[in-house]
Amino acid sequence: MAMKSVYSPLRLAFRTSHEKLNPWHRISGRIIYFLLLNHATWYLNYFIQNGIVYKRLTEFIIIIGITSFLGITVLFSTALEVVRRWNYRLFFVLHFILGLWTLPMLIFHVKELRPYMVEALALLFFDLVCRKMDTITGHATVTTVTGTKLVKVKIPVPPTKIYRFAAAPGQHVYLFIPSESRPSNAGYPSIHDLLFNPFTVAEVSSTDVTLVMRTGSGPTTLAIDRLTSLTKAKPPIDIEGPYGTAKRFPDLVDSYDRILLVAGGVGATFILPIYRHLRDEMEGESTSPDRLKFIWSMRSGAEASWAFDTPAEPSLEDDEHVKIYFTRGNADDRPRSQTADGSVELDDLQQVEKTIKATGGKARPDLKKIVDEIFRFGNEERIAVLVCGPQGLARDLRKHVGSWAMNGREVWWHDETLYAYIFSYFLASLSVFPIRLPTMI
Ligand SMILES: Cc1cc2nc3c(=O)[nH]c(=O)nc-3n(C[C@H](O)[C@H](O)[C@H](O)COP(=O)(O)OP(=O)(O)OC[C@H]3O[C@@H](n4cnc5c(N)ncnc54)[C@H](O)[C@@H]3O)c2cc1C
Ligand SMILES: NC(=O)c1ccc[n+]([C@@H]2O[C@H](COP(=O)([O-])OP(=O)(O)OC[C@H]3O[C@@H](n4cnc5c(N)ncnc54)[C@H](OP(=O)(O)O)[C@@H]3O)[C@@H](O)[C@H]2O)c1
Repeated sequence: MAMKSVYSPLRLAFRTSHEKLNPWHRISGRIIYFLLLNHATWYLNYFIQNGIVYKRLTEFIIIIGITSFLGITVLFSTALEVVRRWNYRLFFVLHFILGLWTLPMLIFHVKELRPYMVEALALLFFDLVCRKMDTITGHATVTTVTGTKLVKVKIPVPPTKIYRFAAAPGQHVYLFIPSESRPSNAGYPSIHDLLFNPFTVAEVSSTDVTLVMRTGSGPTTLAIDRLTSLTKAKPPIDIEGPYGTAKRFPDLVDSYDRILLVAGGVGATFILPIYRHLRDEMEGESTSPDRLKFIWSMRSGAEASWAFDTPAEPSLEDDEHVKIYFTRGNADDRPRSQTADGSVELDDLQQVEKTIKATGGKARPDLKKIVDEIFRFGNEERIAVLVCGPQGLARDLRKHVGSWAMNGREVWWHDETLYAYIFSYFLASLSVFPIRLPTMI
C-alpha cells in the first residue's frame, strides 16, 4: 500500500493514486501494530505464568522477535502525526531504515512468516527499481523570484515523458538533489541521500516543467536556494513523478455549476494551473468562465511575479474572474541583493510591485463573504471548492463552506495541503460530501 510507483499492483487494481492508498497503509499499519502488541504481551504472560521467562527470552528466535517488536514500536511511534509535524525527516528516515531492517529480521523469527517477508521485500525492491527508472535528471535553470524567498526551478523533460506532466494540471513531483548539485560541505553519505521533497508542477511547456518553491529552513530548499548563485551553470536535479490525485478529479466543468479556487502564497503552484485549465476548457466549450472564481492571497505583488512571466498566457490582473490580495504591504523577505549595493534588485522589485495590482484588495480576503456570494446564486447549484495554501486559510475556508454543506448544499471539496496530513484526508474521504465533517478535521 505504501508503494508510490505507477506500477503498484493495488494502484492499478483499484485505478487509484498512491495518495489515496496511503491512508489505508496507515490504518493497516495501526491494526498490525495492535495485533503485534497482543502477540508480544500474551506470549510474555504465558512465559511468566509457566515460569519459563529466562529460558525463552534467551532463545535466538525470541531475541529476534523482541528486537523486531521494539524496532516496529519506534517505527509506529515516530509515524504519529505529532512527530511527523515536529520533524518530518526523523519520521521519514526512521520509517525507511526500520522498515527495511525489520523485514529480514522477521524471516528468522518464525518460518511461517517467510513467504510474506520475501513477498514484501520483493515488492519494495520492485517499487524502488520502478521509481528509479521513472526518475528524470535534468540540467535545471534555478533563479530567484525577485524580492521574495521563492525560487523558480525549470527542468528539461524528454519529449517521451513530458506528456505525462501535461496530462493534468496540479500534479506534483518528488525532487532529489544529486551529489553534483549539493553544497560542498554536504559530506558523504549526506542527508540529501534520503530526501525526496514534494513540489507541485507550476508550469509545463513542450520541453520543461517549472517548480516554484519557498526557501525554508530545511536542507532541500536551502540547497536549491544556493544554486541560484550559479549564473551560468545548469546543475543536475532529479525529479520523480508526476504524482497526485488531480488526474482523477471529476469533470468539474460539466458536473458543477460553480467552481471556487482559493490559493494562499506558493499554494498557487497547484491552483493556478488548474484555473488556467478550467478557464481554457470553458472557453473551448464556448461557455463563459463566469462560473469560475480564483482567489489568490499573497504577501506582496512580488510573490506573484513568477506567474506573470508566461508570455502566451492572458494577464491575471485583467481577468475579472481572478482576485489578487496583498496582505503585508511590501515583500517582507526582501531584498536579497544580487549586486554589491542591492540597487538593481530593488529597482526590479519596485517595478514588479508597481505592475502587479491587488485587484481584490490589500488585506486578507474575506472568505466568508466570498463563499456566501458563490452559494447564494441558487439553492440547486452544485459547487466545487479547491484550496491550497497555509493551513489556517484552508481551515477557515472549510468552516465557511461547511456551514452551507451542513444546510444540505452539494459540495465537492478538495484541500491539497491535506496530503501532508493524510489521516485527516481519510476521514474526509469517508463521507460522500466530505465537507460534512468539519469538526472532525
Ligand atoms: C504534494 C505537495 C506539494 C507541494 N508543493 C510545493 C510547492 O509547489 N512549492 C513549495 O514551496 N512547497 C510545496 N510543498 C511544500 C514542500 O514540500 C516543503 O515546503 C518542502 O519539502 C520543504 O523542504 P525543506 O528542505 O525546506 O524542509 P524539510 O525539512 O525537508 O521538510 C519540511 C516539511 O516539508 C514536508 N515534506 C518534506 N518531505 C516530504 C515528503 N517526502 N512528503 C510529504 N511532505 C514532505 C513536511 O511537512 C516537512 O515537515 C508541497 C508539499 C506537498 C505535500
Ligand atoms: N500541493 C501542496 O500540497 C502544496 C503546494 C504548494 C504549497 N503548499 C503549501 O502551501 C503553503 C503556502 O505557504 P506560503 O508560505 O506561501 O504562505 P504565506 O505566504 O504564509 O501566506 C499566503 C497568504 O495566505 C494568507 N492567509 C494565511 N492564513 C489566512 C487565513 N486564515 N485567511 C485568509 N488568508 C490567509 C496570508 O496572509 P498573511 O500575510 O496575513 O498571513 C498570505 O497572504 C505552505 O504550507 C506550503 O507547504 C502545498
